[in-house]
Amino acid sequence: MTEVERAAAIMAEQAARGMPIVALTGAGISAESGVPTFRGAGGIWTQHDPERVATIRGFREDPARAWAFHQQLRRMCRAATPNPGHLALAWIEVALGDSVPTPVITQNIDGLHQAAGSRDVLELHGSALRVRCTACDYRSDDLPDEFEELPPHCHCGALLRPDVVWFGEMLPEATIRRAHRWAEAAGVMLVIGTSATVQPAASLPVVALRAGAEVIEVNPEPTALTVMADVALPGPAATMLPALVSALGDHLSGETLDVRME
Ligand code: OAD
Repeated sequence: MTEVERAAAIMAEQAARGMPIVALTGAGISAESGVPTFRGAGGIWTQHDPERVATIRGFREDPARAWAFHQQLRRMCRAATPNPGHLALAWIEVALGDSVPTPVITQNIDGLHQAAGSRDVLELHGSALRVRCTACDYRSDDLPDEFEELPPHCHCGALLRPDVVWFGEMLPEATIRRAHRWAEAAGVMLVIGTSATVQPAASLPVVALRAGAEVIEVNPEPTALTVMADVALPGPAATMLPALVSALGDHLSGETLDVRME
């Protein structure tokens, strides 16, 4: 039995018991859509200092500088389309149906899981496709391609900021609480394309393991989680996840998944 087949067998067994199949994703799942990862060769944080562009202090110091960075990121996210890795997760949701919860907890801010069709996406770090006001309650995803001026301002006169979580900021409370609950309830946690270095997201697989879940990691590089995972699939998400879906299809009674992702 290959490791992919073993992972699929674990998922099928847990799904048959109605146990949640929970995904936790990071930048690696979007790498093959052309959105760079943060760390590693060519990573965003090797080109930009996060202190200056991804902290509230850096933003206050020079809002136009932080916005110029986020505009670049937003352009990349808007131009990107879901790859077979994102689509595979959406397929799992459809294939397992309503009796098996299949939430996708993501650290990504690119909106690609939603674009792929995943319906229950928990955005831990917000979205580059939204803005919020630094003073009032205004929040919007109805944004122009380019702002007329940087930094953009709210109708109330205050500065707008990207609706993302910067270093040192709290995660949206209801979202992290729900993510924790899914980690505790999971039969399987698929951990895909994350270096598992940024808290509190990095602790979710550990919570899941302690609560008895099987953890399946998809990542071409080893991480701190690899030795703890029940199955590690060392390869890119856009290859590994369709292979996993295909093997899972073989387990599902009476139906075979169509895994043509194009
Ligand atoms: P990282 O850039 O830290 O890690 C990306 C991971 O993806 C690495 O472990 C790579 O080995 C892996 N990877 C690369 N290509 C892949 C592929 N094709 N398929 C699967 N995996 C691949 O990104 P995150 O773990 O998401 O936060 O980073 C976590 C947070 O740190 C981000 O959400 C962001 C960042 O600072 C904020 O901005 C708040």
